[in-house]
Amino acid sequence: MKAPGKQMELKDNLFNRALFGDDFKWGVSTAAYQIEGGHDAHGKGPSVWDVFTAKSGAIPSGHHGNTACDFYNTYPQDIAVLKELGIPNFRFSLSWSRIIPAGTGEVNEHGIDFYNRVIDTCLANGIEPWVTLYHWDLPHELDLKGGWANREVVEWFKEFVQVCAKAFGDRVKYWMVMNEPMVFTGAGYFLGLHAPGKKGLNNFLPAVHHAVLAMAEGGRTLRSLLPDAQIGTTFSCSHIEPYTSGRKDVVAARRVDALLNRLFIEPILGMGYPEEDLPVAKKLKKYMKPGDSGLMQFDFDFIGIQNYTREIVKHSIFVPYLNAVLVKAENRKVPLTAMGWEIYPPAIYHMLKKYAEYENMPKLYITENGVAFPDTAVGGKVNDPERIHYIKSHLRQVLRAKEEGVDVQGYFVWTLLDNFEWAEGYHPRFGLVHVDFETQQRIIKSSGHWYKAFLNG
Ligand code: GAL
Repeated sequence: MKAPGKQMELKDNLFNRALFGDDFKWGVSTAAYQIEGGHDAHGKGPSVWDVFTAKSGAIPSGHHGNTACDFYNTYPQDIAVLKELGIPNFRFSLSWSRIIPAGTGEVNEHGIDFYNRVIDTCLANGIEPWVTLYHWDLPHELDLKGGWANREVVEWFKEFVQVCAKAFGDRVKYWMVMNEPMVFTGAGYFLGLHAPGKKGLNNFLPAVHHAVLAMAEGGRTLRSLLPDAQIGTTFSCSHIEPYTSGRKDVVAARRVDALLNRLFIEPILGMGYPEEDLPVAKKLKKYMKPGDSGLMQFDFDFIGIQNYTREIVKHSIFVPYLNAVLVKAENRKVPLTAMGWEIYPPAIYHMLKKYAEYENMPKLYITENGVAFPDTAVGGKVNDPERIHYIKSHLRQVLRAKEEGVDVQGYFVWTLLDNFEWAEGYHPRFGLVHVDFETQQRIIKSSGHWYKAFLNG
C-alpha cells in the first residue's frame, strides 16, 4: 500500500471544499429514464427501456420507469432543492425519443419545450446545466432496425445531436456525448441484462464499434455547431486487481481491465482497440470500414470518469474469450453497498492516475461517484451517515490524485434523487434526497445536508 497523501491526515473539520480550489466544479448527476417518468407524455415515443421493462421477467422486480421520480412534472421543485442545497452544477440527460419519437425524422416540439424549461429553470436559479446526450434510452423504433448493432445508428445519432445542439446550444455550455458505453453495450448487447436485452458477440461487437464511431461523430457535430462549448464524454471504470500474483490471474486481470477500462477510451484517443491485452477485440475488424481509425478519434475537451468500486479478477477456463471471472465482493469479507459492491475509496484515486497517464488526455471530471444503501425514512428524516462517509472518503482520494498532479477539475455525486436503478429497480437508493415512490414526497437525507454544508463551508 502506498503512503496516504497529506490530506489523509487532515482532521474532518479541516477537510473542506477550498482544498480543491475555486474553479473546481461541484455537482450532482442524473439520467432521463431513471427520474423523468412521463413515458408517453406529450408525444414521447417509446425507448428500449420502456419496452424492455414491460416484458415480463426482463427486470427481476418487475419495476419500470413509467413514472419514476416524476421529474417530468416535479422539475421545478427538484431544481429548487438543488438551489437550496447550494449545488452549482446539474448533470441530466436528454431522452432521445422524447425529442425525436421515432429516433429519426419528425421532432416533438413538446420534448424540446420540456428540456427548454428544465434548462431555463436551472439558469434562473444560478445552476449550470450539464447535458448528457445519450444515457442508454435508445428510441425503440431504431432498435427495430437493429439499434446499436446497425451502423446506420451513427447517422441517426448525429441527427439527434444536431437537433439538440441547435435547440439548446445557446444556453448549454457543458455537453457529454455518451454515458458509459461499456455498460450499455455490455449489459444491453452481450449479457441481455439491460435493454434491449440482446446477447452474444454478434450483437456486442458491432454495438461497441458503432458506439465508438457515434461518440466521436457526436463530438465533431457539437464542435462544428457550438465551437465555444465544452465537449466531453463519460466512461465507467473500476480499479482491477488480480486475485493472486500468479501469472494466470495477472493476465486475466489485464484482460478484464482492457475490457472494462480501455476498450472505449483508447480508440477515442487514436490508439485503436486494446487488442494485445484483449484478443477478442481483434474480431472488431470485421465491422471496420476503410477510414474508421480516423473516424474513431475525437479530441474531447474533457473526459468524465465514473467510478464506484474495484474488482478482483481470477483466471477461469469457463468464461469464453475472457478466461476470467470477478471474485464477488460478498465472498471477500469486505464492506458492501446495497448493490453488493465493495466500498474501496482508493479505487477512484487509481482510476484518476491511470487515465491521467495517457498522452493527450484532456482534463478529467468525476462525473459520477456515489453509493446505494437501504435508507429508510423515520419520523420524516433519513439518516445516512454511511453515505457521508463514502463520499468524504472518496473525495479525499480525489484530492490525493489532484495533489499528485492529476488534472481533475470537478466531482458530481451520483445522484440527486433515489431513482430507477436499471435492472435493480427501485430498491437501491443512491440519492442525496429520499423519494417515496408512492407519494413522490422528497426528504433531504443527512448526506444532502452534509453536501450543502461542505459546499458552503
Ligand atoms: C452508472 C450509471 C448510472 C447509475 C449508476 C449507479 O453506471 O451511469 O445511470 O445507475 O451507475 O449504478
